[in-house]
Amino acid sequence: MTGPGLFITLEGGDGSGKTTQARLLQEWFESEGRVVVRTREPGGTEVGGLIRDIVLHHRGEVSPRAEALLYAADRAHHIATVVRPALARGEVVLQDRYLDSSVAYQGAGRVLGRTEIRDLSLWATEGLLPDLTVLLDLDPAAARARLDADDKPFDRLESERDEFHARVRAEYLALAAAEPDRFLVLDASLPADQIAGVIRTRVAELLAG
Ligand code: TYD
Repeated sequence: MTGPGLFITLEGGDGSGKTTQARLLQEWFESEGRVVVRTREPGGTEVGGLIRDIVLHHRGEVSPRAEALLYAADRAHHIATVVRPALARGEVVLQDRYLDSSVAYQGAGRVLGRTEIRDLSLWATEGLLPDLTVLLDLDPAAARARLDADDKPFDRLESERDEFHARVRAEYLALAAAEPDRFLVLDASLPADQIAGVIRTRVAELLAG
């Protein structure tokens, strides 16, 4: 455990429903009387907002290693200034994306190497791992269809090709298989309330210790 607080991250491809699940879980925790901090990477701080603009919306090239370091810089600042203080106060941190995103997108998607990318994130965060990571697994074609249905323009990562997203998905599943105690893998094509129910059951187990 991360101390008195609880650190839960949500992972999955773009369009897998992380935001909806974070909202439902927040409502549940609050109904249980817990204080919740909902946050995300990249962009959970003011500095992170600037970094987010570069990694998602810069029009020119961003070299793969620079991209990895920008995500790591966002993470270092976010963990030090938002997440660790909240955990120390005993709060619940519900976070959209964390180091597994870097391992999947930069490590596998950009083929920079999973060990190097994971080590970089662990250095950036002084070794903070979540108590629970919910992986919303979705076939990239289904995810793309969901994103197409939205009106929002694609960002730099979303615009990547199908093979990139297939590598990201495979890496997420490999990460979950390697750390079954930390991960809960769910089929993101199921109805949102059904997914939320499974997540709550797992969280209740975690709280019961
Ligand atoms: P965002 O719009 O926040 O995500 P979502 O698609 O989950 O709503 O965009 C974040 C993008 O950044 C997403 O495509 C994944 C990517 N990303 C990385 O490549 N590496 C990382 O370490 C993180 C945190 C995100």
